[in-house]
Amino acid sequence: MLRNTLKASWLRSPSYIIMHPACIRVWLLLKLTVVVMSVWMLAILSRPEAVWDPTTNIFSYSWLDYTDEDGDPEAACNCSAILQGDTEEIEKAALLSLSKAFLETVRIPDEYYINATQDCRKFKISRKYLQFPLSQEEEDLPLAYSMVVHHKNFERLLRAIYTPQNIYCVHVDNSSAPAIHSAITAITSCFPNVFVTRQTVDVVYGGWSRVQADLNCMADLYNYSTKWKYFINLCGQDFPLKTNLEIVRMLRSLRGGNSLESVKMPDAHRWRVSKVHEIVDGNVKEPPPFDLPILYGNAYIVVSRNYIRDVLEDERIQALIEWGKDTYSPDEFLWATIQRMPGVSGSRRPHSKYDMTDLNAFARLVKWVFNEGPHDSPGAVYPKCHGQHVRLVCIYAVGDLQWILEQHHLFANKFNIDTDPIAIYCLEKYLRHKALAEIH
Ligand SMILES: *[C@@H]1O[C@H](CO)[C@@H](O)[C@H](O)[C@H]1NC(C)=O
Ligand SMILES: *[C@@H]1O[C@H](CO)[C@@H](O)[C@H](O)[C@H]1NC(C)=O
Ligand SMILES: *[C@@H]1O[C@H](CO)[C@@H](O)[C@H](O)[C@H]1NC(C)=O
Ligand SMILES: *[C@@H]1O[C@H](CO)[C@@H](O)[C@H](O)[C@H]1NC(C)=O
Repeated sequence: MLRNTLKASWLRSPSYIIMHPACIRVWLLLKLTVVVMSVWMLAILSRPEAVWDPTTNIFSYSWLDYTDEDGDPEAACNCSAILQGDTEEIEKAALLSLSKAFLETVRIPDEYYINATQDCRKFKISRKYLQFPLSQEEEDLPLAYSMVVHHKNFERLLRAIYTPQNIYCVHVDNSSAPAIHSAITAITSCFPNVFVTRQTVDVVYGGWSRVQADLNCMADLYNYSTKWKYFINLCGQDFPLKTNLEIVRMLRSLRGGNSLESVKMPDAHRWRVSKVHEIVDGNVKEPPPFDLPILYGNAYIVVSRNYIRDVLEDERIQALIEWGKDTYSPDEFLWATIQRMPGVSGSRRPHSKYDMTDLNAFARLVKWVFNEGPHDSPGAVYPKCHGQHVRLVCIYAVGDLQWILEQHHLFANKFNIDTDPIAIYCLEKYLRHKALAEIH
């Protein structure tokens, strides 16, 4: 009714037919405003998720920063002070991590993920997932990740390494609790580029299944997309030390090569590949196929797509894989040995001059208890661990962060969100801030 009346009066108005000069000025101004607004809208659309920051007058992605306003209980600690090695703040954080009540408030239950992922769009925004490549440089070098996980560190790790141009294969241990399976499946279902591998195994420490889990993901990733350039394998207790851009730049510097530990087999470990380990009285094992020299290294690697192609297709490697199935801790010889086979993409000769230690490779930073010690002790490789040890490996605490971030490795192992959540919190906060600062 009202609308009809207004319409009628508008039609009757003489100014509709003959415009007054003042009206023309207003009309031109209006037109100009529309043009300016459209250009502004276009600028926003071409920079997705950027928000106008009135304090600096530039487009900003600062809403993707993790801030104290996110309401995380870990915000009680001052991460910048911790990363600068401030002993008072480090002690405060260490003390907090001893409190059961605090650890309980930090814990994100599986049910939360199952519930929150029912609305994927909301989940990704509230958890501040990056939903666009931060640079052309990163878009041009997509990565493939194999993530062999068995508990809930998973989502924090995924969030830290997630970008839409990379792809992620997740292997959930067959023996993990059903709630963990459901939570991880729910999370992966929100991302087109994250999938759970169809074949799962029971991952046994030191056994073949650890290698099989990675092999399953390698095959899936290789088949899934031809675009990715590098492969990185992770476990649930790894965490990145570099932003995706820094990772991409370090990978480019390899010029098609690989970065993984590959050294002479220590005498103390020789039995692992010379005895059939399932048989208690230790039958002597036949020598490796093609007389391949067996080298030693880490289970975690950074290798090119062509190295993965060779793992999946080279007949010598298929024979080596069959041969390795009854050895102890095959993950610690298989990749290192393949890296020294002639004809494998990016491989080096087996001569000891080409040996690469875990500290020179940048795949993984691990602190072994027997290498720790003060600077002036001749046998020490790195400073003492501030956290606990599990199977001789340091579980990092906040006091380790400053030193860790000075290393060139892409990832560090091990972190445990149940015992030292503040270390992960400060690391993820630091990395996100750095990634957003790198955009300009
Ligand atoms: C945190 O520590 C940094 C560096 O020591 C200091 O500049 C900053 O003011 C501190 N922030 C808070 C909220 O105390
Ligand atoms: C699940 O989500 C609903 C609505 O979003 C909420 O009311 C409920 O408390 C949530 N449950 C859990 C266990 O978080
Ligand atoms: C997976 O777990 C189920 C039940 O615990 C078991 O029956 C099955 O054999 C396991 N599968 C593998 C491949 O280990
Ligand atoms: C890739 O997929 C094809 C068809 O689905 C299958 O035949 C082939 O075996 C797969 N390759 C690998 C390496 O999994």
